[in-house]
Amino acid sequence: MTMKTDLIQASDAAIRSAAALLRKGELVAFPTETVYGLGANAWDEAAVRKIFVAKDRPADNPLIVHIAQMEQMETLARKVSADARRLAKAFWPGPLTMVLPARDEVPRVVTAGLSSVGIRLPEHPVARALLREAGLPVAAPSANRSGRPSPTTAQHVWTDLQGRLSMILDGGPCRVGVESTVVDMTGEVPVILRPGGITPEQIQSVTGSVRVHESALSPLASEAEAASPGMKYRHYAPTGQVLLIAGADISTRLATHYDAADALGERAVILAPMERKAELGARAFLPMGRADDPESMARSLFAALREAEASGADRIFVEAIAAEGMGLAVMNRLCRAAGFQIEEE
Ligand code: TXA
Ligand code: MG
Repeated sequence: MTMKTDLIQASDAAIRSAAALLRKGELVAFPTETVYGLGANAWDEAAVRKIFVAKDRPADNPLIVHIAQMEQMETLARKVSADARRLAKAFWPGPLTMVLPARDEVPRVVTAGLSSVGIRLPEHPVARALLREAGLPVAAPSANRSGRPSPTTAQHVWTDLQGRLSMILDGGPCRVGVESTVVDMTGEVPVILRPGGITPEQIQSVTGSVRVHESALSPLASEAEAASPGMKYRHYAPTGQVLLIAGADISTRLATHYDAADALGERAVILAPMERKAELGARAFLPMGRADDPESMARSLFAALREAEASGADRIFVEAIAAEGMGLAVMNRLCRAAGFQIEEE
């Protein structure tokens, strides 16, 4: 199953060809403000099935449907609560996905058989132009191989999926760098199933209340508890073994771990805010944003994990940050990348 994949700059002409491919039932990867998406016509079951094949994605993990205009929400959702409407007004276009009761017309392959559907109106100009031009809702997961770090550049998509889709639209590096916040709006209180580009505080400021699902920072006790099927899979994992270092004296402890691995002949690398570099001397170091700026860490997180892997590292030592604001989304991804291996001190 290999085909020719075009990797092209997202010009008006390129966006028109991409839209035509989507209407024909082909797969197109496109930039969004969060991460790159792997899109297919959401109404076309055969096209959506191709996404699962291309990514090696488990069939029980539902897809987010992307729309160009607020009014398209009603073609997919059976009921839109007043709170959901307020959130859409406040944060769309933007990095927020709302889980709403699905209409029967939404293909089961999109919802993975659930009675709800995830909907998002992205902000990236290329994504918006593509959705408008295609005139369709587009089902799109992150455009990585299942289990790998999400792609924040067109090159990441190429590395993972080349030969498995028709076209990759290159719109440069993604601004947010972590995926959208997924919030379940089917109950009384909004529940954040996956922290992301919109913080819990931002949601609470609109709805008055919000709950963050316990899986945000801890492993699920059992698969049965997965409110969002995506929670139960190993995620964002590079091939090297990741250890998260939290608490005091982080530089010293990062160095100690690094040197111990090095003495055993293992290839080690440290991922930390750029300010740490000076304290770590000649040790292999990949910068991950600035310590006082969780947004900058979110932006460089996935590229850093991919770089650590490309460097051939056996052990990856990562500095933990405070799980507040955008830091919650960063720590959610880091905990998963580390398989919840965290050293607190
Ligand atoms: O920023 C993003 O959200 C990116 C860009 C491309 O839009 N997309 C993305 O999709 O991250 P994906 O498939 O990698 O992650 C979607 C997450 C999964 O964890 C999935 O289980 C959850 O959203 N999800 C989708 N529909 C759901 C539903 N009806 N109920 C509960 N969880 C749902
Ligand atoms: Mg994903």
